[in-house]
Amino acid sequence: MNVYLGIDVGTSGTKVLAIAADGTILGSGVGEYPCYAPRPLWSEQNPDDWWNAVVTVVPQVLAKAGIKGTDVKGIGLSGQMHGSVFLDKNDQVVRPAILWNDQRTAKECGQIEEAVGGRAKLIELVANPAMSGFTAPKIVWLRNNEPENFDKVAKVLLPKDEIRRRLTGEYATEVSDASGTLLLDVAGRRWSAETLSALGLDESLLPTVYESEDVTGRLTQAAADALGLTTDCFVVGGAGDCAAGAVGNGIVRSGALSTSLGTSGVAFVHSDEVKYDPLGRVHTFCHAVRGKWHMMGVTLSAAGSLQWFRNALCAELWERAKSEHEDVYNLLSAEAAKTPAGADGLFFLPYLSGERTPHADPDARGCFVGLTLAHDRGRVVRSIMEGVTYSLREAIDIFRSLNVPVDEIRASGGGAKSPFWRQIQADVFGARVVTLNSEEGPAFGVALLATVGGGEYANIQEACDATISTVSELRPNPETQKYYDKAFPVYQQLYRSLKDDFKAISGLC
Ligand code: XUL
Repeated sequence: MNVYLGIDVGTSGTKVLAIAADGTILGSGVGEYPCYAPRPLWSEQNPDDWWNAVVTVVPQVLAKAGIKGTDVKGIGLSGQMHGSVFLDKNDQVVRPAILWNDQRTAKECGQIEEAVGGRAKLIELVANPAMSGFTAPKIVWLRNNEPENFDKVAKVLLPKDEIRRRLTGEYATEVSDASGTLLLDVAGRRWSAETLSALGLDESLLPTVYESEDVTGRLTQAAADALGLTTDCFVVGGAGDCAAGAVGNGIVRSGALSTSLGTSGVAFVHSDEVKYDPLGRVHTFCHAVRGKWHMMGVTLSAAGSLQWFRNALCAELWERAKSEHEDVYNLLSAEAAKTPAGADGLFFLPYLSGERTPHADPDARGCFVGLTLAHDRGRVVRSIMEGVTYSLREAIDIFRSLNVPVDEIRASGGGAKSPFWRQIQADVFGARVVTLNSEEGPAFGVALLATVGGGEYANIQEACDATISTVSELRPNPETQKYYDKAFPVYQQLYRSLKDDFKAISGLC
């Protein structure tokens, strides 16, 4: 039997998934590691922790599923995007990796836009404005703040590509993850010589760029020995976790859109042509589908907002749920389901970690607006679910305004497990919301890319058609949809009204 592995180097842990060529799940496992915040707004990890998770979990998954190392034909890599692994000329890590959710680079974002000739010019060159989480601002930050470390740097790799280097000895990346560096000519699918030169950075710092299903190398003897695999095992380009998750949801053709409600929330749409928002409110990246692109909006606190509410304000209910072996989120969802659409005029703005789409604003703060004595816990939970969904609708409306068709929405992530929250999505988006047979996320998407690299399918569309199917569908309720269409502009107005107050609040602390 031919087996393919998907390895997803996430922020809380690395997931390893083994599949057969027909998409059957054979086994999976996760190795967790810490994330460090040495200063407020900083977020760092140690690349050795990612590697230790890979060498620990791969053999465990093989052993548990009874898979022989010689059966594993190929590996697809996915991972948290934007992170910077700085390597010296001997491939030693120069300092801890700076992650996607690190907010230290506000000043560098301004410097980058100025260096290339303004924000509009940067969007023209790399399809996106400078965002504090992206990679190029981290490189410029290192040069500005740790020049002794910057002088040692010979290569900058993304998290999954550092794992690729340790697996294959190759410096390689692929178009979807490279798009989040702010250094890729997204339209041309190659490094942007003009941007690099404006920033005074040499292209030799960066790895070779491949398409996602291309084979980028084979395991070294040392890696094969460490993982219990063979040196015939190849590694395909893979994808950043958003594109990989979308491939795992079958978002590989025009008209398909996915939403993911994890800690952060993502609205992701396939596009046959490169299209970008001139205002830079949504990201335009290369897709993991050869020669195609995608657009994406990111809500930084999505299901994370509900998690915050549970942790901060529901200790008693949570304890009770544990003792009754119930899922506390089911209890919260059931309470919310008993309340009316719009939660009797209560709005929640989900800016608990600042925001990315459509307001790239680190100062934005979470709020409840419209509280009265009539508001109970169910209404508060409903307002959180609605606020997060409105936030994703802001991205979806931008896609629609750019004439990217949206027919069906494929819901995934922890938040999509609640049928009640999925119905809110159908009603707020005014579209059919479906769920799929596969819930394995980015690791599944890149394992499928590996099956294509292994010649099991002609392309990723064929692989998705053969392995992914719809298992549930919800349609919008016309009455509720009408209410949300009326309430959505009020939600949108609240950010505009409060923007300056957010700045004032952030100046206080
Ligand atoms: C995407 C993004 C996050 C990370 C986290 O732009 O920042 O989804 O990839 O995994």
